Amino acid sequence: MSITARSAPNIALIKYWGNRNDTYRLCAANSTSMTLNIPGVRVSVAHADTLVVHSLNKQMTEKDTLRFAETLRLIRGYLGSLGYDRALPASLHIEIDSEIPPSIGLASSSAVFSALPKAIAGLLDADLTDEQISVMARLGSGSAARSIFGGFSAIRNTGGNDIDSAVGWQIVDEHHWQLHDIIIVPSTQEKKVGSSEGHAFAQTSPHFAERIRAIKEYRQQECIDAIEQKDFEKLQHIAEEDCMDMHRCMETQQPPLHYLSSETLRIVGEVKQLREAEHIPVLYTMDAGPTVHLFCTNEARNRIVEFAHEQADCTIFKASIGPGTHLV
Ligand code: DP6
Repeated sequence: MSITARSAPNIALIKYWGNRNDTYRLCAANSTSMTLNIPGVRVSVAHADTLVVHSLNKQMTEKDTLRFAETLRLIRGYLGSLGYDRALPASLHIEIDSEIPPSIGLASSSAVFSALPKAIAGLLDADLTDEQISVMARLGSGSAARSIFGGFSAIRNTGGNDIDSAVGWQIVDEHHWQLHDIIIVPSTQEKKVGSSEGHAFAQTSPHFAERIRAIKEYRQQECIDAIEQKDFEKLQHIAEEDCMDMHRCMETQQPPLHYLSSETLRIVGEVKQLREAEHIPVLYTMDAGPTVHLFCTNEARNRIVEFAHEQADCTIFKASIGPGTHLV
């Protein structure tokens, strides 16, 4: 028997950067995001004697397979703590079918590692809540904890140092506010340093402590308020502040990480000009790569799509708010 789950990336508005516990991916601060409808990833799992991880779209490296093995080890431990001691079989055959170009800052790990535990829960026929599945997702990739949920979601740190001391939760579902994410990918070259490696050195930035304080004191709550109130201007202000603050941390940590390319900065500059000249509700945000995410409202969508297509040599994705991870 094989069980398949579908998921899509989520894009953070308050970014997760830096862990207080790298093994469990317990994030140093809370974060907030919107789950997209596309590009999708399907993950199928079936019982197997040995671990096999196969992707239809990418050559899996030994490092990739080790990440799955470690994630399964942690998931097994977590399921044990919930009373499902022998629930997970000795090993799994995992098959991934992804529409996402790998390693371009398009959060492919958030989609893969949210679909994986959803499929595992289906395979085990275990009665797990979305919060529990989000803990399992986080063990594979921190941001994946948010893609379990549709609409807007967040990660809440509960303070402890246990495997379930950070939990994803849904702020509002995908019907609350119809926002879009027009994605401009200026480069499809794989990035040199992935976010997993980067998190480990976040604390070396002289700006890191201040960043965590700002998120705890006001940013996370203001972002949640803006979403609940559908206040785009407020969302724009807080999301852009947090995005640029994260990149300042990345660029000043040791060794420094420069994910934004000159193309990224040019596009951001033009978006600002467009917004000023035409009073368009659009905000920009970038994760660990040069890709620019332009969040906009229904009324702004056509103009932003037009803007995106004017960018030479870029791949464009036209995503909207999505439903979260589900079995297919
Ligand atoms: C910049 O979730 O990719 O996209 O836990 O190592 O997989 P791992 O890290 P990851 O980190 C996300 C970093 C980010 C911001 C965000 O999505 O919140």
